[in-house]
Amino acid sequence: MTSPTRLRTHLAERLRTWRGAGLGRSTVDLASGQHPVVDIDGDRRLLFSSSNYLGLSHHPAVVAAAVDATRTFGTGAGGSRLTTGSTTLHRQLEEELADWLGYPDCVLFPTGYAANLSALSVLADDAVTVFSDERNHASIIDGCRSAKSAGAEVRVYPHRDMCALRGLLDARSTPHGLVVTDGVFSMDGTVAPVADLVPLAREHGCMVLVDDAHGIGTLADGRGSAAPTPLRRTSWSAR
Ligand SMILES: Cc1ncc(COP(=O)(O)O)c(C=O)c1O
Repeated sequence: MTSPTRLRTHLAERLRTWRGAGLGRSTVDLASGQHPVVDIDGDRRLLFSSSNYLGLSHHPAVVAAAVDATRTFGTGAGGSRLTTGSTTLHRQLEEELADWLGYPDCVLFPTGYAANLSALSVLADDAVTVFSDERNHASIIDGCRSAKSAGAEVRVYPHRDMCALRGLLDARSTPHGLVVTDGVFSMDGTVAPVADLVPLAREHGCMVLVDDAHGIGTLADGRGSAAPTPLRRTSWSAR
């Protein structure tokens, strides 16, 4: 049996190896909000890496609504959604988002990471093959790992390559398939060919999951990369 001290030594060794390979990460601590010019260590710096594209985090109406909600509901959920952490505000937002995007329903998650991990681990099992673009966000890759441990097969296709995807779809050996893609790819800024991808997936009887973290609010009047395609269905509902 190994002792905690040995585990600590082992972890320190792994950390050294990561850092040696240039994989060490640390936070950059902003002393201001997500403005175009931010305060870092007392210096004024231009901020190019934020996802606050529309400046909504400081929009007076958003700030006022957040303050209002805090006064009524407090600063924390006090529990998970399934126990005491769901409020009328959550449900109202879900209904408004579903209505705005033209879907039958909506579920809020606290982060994009939680959404991808949850969706992929719930939707995929041993009857499903997940087809994933090679440049999908890390949270989708973790979601695919989770799908794999639920028995799903995972096939990675070259970035935005619909011919390669067709080949993989043709070779599918499971009864069901799920194609997953970023809408706007976070590292490249490229846009998924959703208008081609959706009919291709449908032709093969597969569902499509688009992570539109960077598409909602920026493309198609804000409705995202999937807005102009038949991905928006109001007829499907599990209810
Ligand atoms: C495309 C995409 N999906 C998911 C995430 C994860 O979102 P979060 O940081 O809210 O977990 C990000 C983060 O930037 C992202 O760019």
